[in-house]
Amino acid sequence: MRAYHWMVLVLMLCFGVPLQAAEDPQSGPIMVPNPAADLWRAVRQRGDQPVPARSQVQGLDSSELINVNGQRFREYRRERFIRIAGYTLAGTFLLILLFHAIHGGLDHERTGRRIPRFELPDRVAHWLLASIFLFLALTGLTLLFGRFVLIPWLGAEAFSPIASASKEGHNLFGPLFIVALGWVFLRFVSRNLPSRGDLVWLLRGGGLLGNSHPPAGFFNAGEKIWFWLLILGGLALILSGLLLDFPFLAPSRDGEILALVVHGLAAILLIAFMFGHVYVGTIGVKGSLDSMTEGHVDEGWARSHHSLWYEEVKGLAEPEADREDEQLKTGLAEEAK
Ligand code: HEM
Repeated sequence: MRAYHWMVLVLMLCFGVPLQAAEDPQSGPIMVPNPAADLWRAVRQRGDQPVPARSQVQGLDSSELINVNGQRFREYRRERFIRIAGYTLAGTFLLILLFHAIHGGLDHERTGRRIPRFELPDRVAHWLLASIFLFLALTGLTLLFGRFVLIPWLGAEAFSPIASASKEGHNLFGPLFIVALGWVFLRFVSRNLPSRGDLVWLLRGGGLLGNSHPPAGFFNAGEKIWFWLLILGGLALILSGLLLDFPFLAPSRDGEILALVVHGLAAILLIAFMFGHVYVGTIGVKGSLDSMTEGHVDEGWARSHHSLWYEEVKGLAEPEADREDEQLKTGLAEEAK
């Protein structure tokens, strides 16, 4: 017999194992208590006087045989977090649909003259961050909801390679998020500092309350809130993610559990806000997407949604046709060379 078997035997003798089945005359079925329950209670060092343990292994929490918080976290994740996350994401999506059905998207007068808005590095930084974020969101949600949504649908065998690929992809691409978020921070931070008009913009619900658009600079208060949420939430995701990728950095196993809780909450919050951001950037405010795809916006869009910025840059507006003619001329001149 090995030392471990002796230990189990001694513990079983010390703590006694109730081997008789207990009958419950009310409910009918025979209740059989788990014969090893007392043993595991002892191993778990639980009770009024926790049993101290000693271990030859000198490592983090190595003398804590079973981490009770690990089990608590498992229950919280299965019974609460997955449900809250599902309701939050589905609820946000449905609210946006409802809002759009009632309110419709915001439109603006088209002048046919356009104003430059984002330089190429701004757009590359934005789409790099957006693609990495979407990839991490998709793989993370697959890991979170897979067991409940994908296994009943696809079966465990088909889900297994999807889960492995999601896990590896999530771990590998996570660190790239740091680079992309840092780049977006550097490119956009100066235009996202609070300014005097922000409060007025917020109080007027960004134009939803009342009939006219409140004035706004380059970014309005709503965009600034999204930016700072993304930076702070992103930092929480990065720090907790690094602790999960490199567990030896965590101060204790409880630290790891805290990292899992923070990572999940920050991810769900940001994904829900991202739904709103994508809505506003596409059908919610018509004409916005041009700024991130082509780099310029219609003069009417700038005047309606960012009137203070428009006053600064209106001199740069040029007719679309002129621009195209100019591009054509430059192209022809280059070809002639
Ligand atoms: C995939 C769909 C997406 C679309 C269609 C989209 C669209 C846009 C548009 C049109 C703008 C410019 C708004 C303006 O001109 O004022 C913008 C800005 C921005 N987007 Fe996105 N976006 C997407 C995804 C994302 C994601 C996933 C993130 C980050 C996780 C992100 C972060 C940002 C940031 C930080 C800005 C600048 C706003 C600010 O600094 O306040 N976008 N987006």
